[in-house]
Amino acid sequence: MKFKGNVALITGASRGIGAEIAYSLSLKGITILINYSKSEESAVEIAQRIRREGGNCDIVKFDVSNYDEVESAVKDIANKYKKIDYLVNNAGVTKDNLILRMTKDEISEVLDINLKGAINCCKHVSRYMVKNKFGVIVNISSVVGLMGNAGQVNYAASKAGLIGLTKSLARELGSRNIRVNAVAPGYIETEMTEKLNVLQRKALMSNLVIKRLGKPEDVANVVEFLLSEEASYITGEVINISGGLYI
Ligand SMILES: NC(=O)c1ccc[n+]([C@@H]2O[C@H](COP(=O)([O-])OP(=O)(O)OC[C@H]3O[C@@H](n4cnc5c(N)ncnc54)[C@H](O)[C@@H]3O)[C@@H](O)[C@H]2O)c1
Repeated sequence: MKFKGNVALITGASRGIGAEIAYSLSLKGITILINYSKSEESAVEIAQRIRREGGNCDIVKFDVSNYDEVESAVKDIANKYKKIDYLVNNAGVTKDNLILRMTKDEISEVLDINLKGAINCCKHVSRYMVKNKFGVIVNISSVVGLMGNAGQVNYAASKAGLIGLTKSLARELGSRNIRVNAVAPGYIETEMTEKLNVLQRKALMSNLVIKRLGKPEDVANVVEFLLSEEASYITGEVINISGGLYI
């Protein structure tokens, strides 16, 4: 695959899907800005993995849900690297509960990080993409944003919101040579999904067309494609990576 740019900011990249996207993109010669908000140790681990393979990266701490923190971190990155070619909005959390029991904090935390966080990053990064007349954004949504899931009203709403963001921003920035797409993973084996018990796994497996859980690499491969020049005529799209969980 060919890449026009060489600087990528990946939010929540200290572990799971974000860390895998960071690692696989670094192997393509792209300088990776590994964002984290809390777990510095994990961010350092992924940075060491990238550097061991000869890749370039920097670690940038900010909480995506904090508008001012994002603004100032993005400004620092743009000052140092002169541009940001790629943005992957990956940071996300779950706070599952039935709506009758869902707390005020569970509602706001999930929407603030998953949805407002991505808007904050798009808002501040797109300024530099417009200036540089090039950019590609990929938002990590979820099949749950398309099909819904009992017990995940907050999470599903945030992930559905990301699809509206993707399509609107694609329309807004297409003429500036900036593409915006989303991926909708199903169940991917990471710390986020390791809470599933045996019965939940069994039930889930019966709904999958491809009889395995997804791997972070399954998501990283598609994100890499969407960022590449091979996808230069694709914008405003949502690609499911769910083993047929949602068709
Ligand atoms: N694992 C799955 O099955 C699955 C399925 C569909 C979508 N997703 C989405 O993929 C993305 C990555 O999920 P994962 O499974 O790797 O989860 P994870 O919990 O392993 O990783 C999430 C990352 O986001 C970071 N993060 C959380 N709040 C943040 C904040 N305020 N600012 C910056 N970073 C923050 C975390 O520190 C962590 O590094 C999430 O958006 C998630 O919703 C995951």
